[in-house]
Amino acid sequence: MFITLEGPEGSGKTSVMKEVIRRLIDEGHSIIETREPGGTEIAEQIRTIILDRKNLKLDARAEALLYAASRRQNLVEKIWPSIQAGHIVICDRFIDSSLAYQGGARGIGLDEVLQINLFATEGSFPELTLLFDIEPELGLKRIAQNKQREVNRLDLERLDFHRQVRQTYLALAKKYPQRIVVIDASQPLHDVIETTYAHIKKRLT
Ligand code: TYD
Repeated sequence: MFITLEGPEGSGKTSVMKEVIRRLIDEGHSIIETREPGGTEIAEQIRTIILDRKNLKLDARAEALLYAASRRQNLVEKIWPSIQAGHIVICDRFIDSSLAYQGGARGIGLDEVLQINLFATEGSFPELTLLFDIEPELGLKRIAQNKQREVNRLDLERLDFHRQVRQTYLALAKKYPQRIVVIDASQPLHDVIETTYAHIKKRLT
């Protein structure tokens, strides 16, 4: 089973999943957690380049290729072997982040970003994608309140960019209704956790 987590900045997906994963492990499920960009030593090095606030000159297509390269490395080194070994793999961000951020918000185009990602993933899609949906205004407000979380280069993008990210995510949910489940992340944390847990349990049985 391969599950991915998606959502705009400040959707709270990481905190929600921490609790949900704790419950699943308590129930005896074997979970491998990973994230993108990153997840393996090489992919984390790629992550450093992408998120470095000094790299303002990073070209949009070069950025999209770096995300795809990090994804490929994570798949080959970690995700595929873990699925093969029978674990549930949960990846914080995956292909839909590239479609929403690079394809939609950066304006490269969904089809072009999908093409380079199909090359990187050999057409391997998650079975379940949880989309933590939240209005950008609220998400960015949450980030500002969360002092432990470092503000990265992409957090600094204009509000309009984040609105486009959200719109593209919602369009993707319409395009892939079997795979993508939209979760209202503006609810209180407790409710988001319960909803998320219920969706995963439904797929596991
Ligand atoms: P991160 O600090 O991991 O953000 P979050 O906690 O919100 O997941 O930084 C990842 C950033 O990279 C985030 O702003 C989304 C962006 N991103 C893309 O633009 N394209 C991608 O393919 C991926 C995986 C992430």
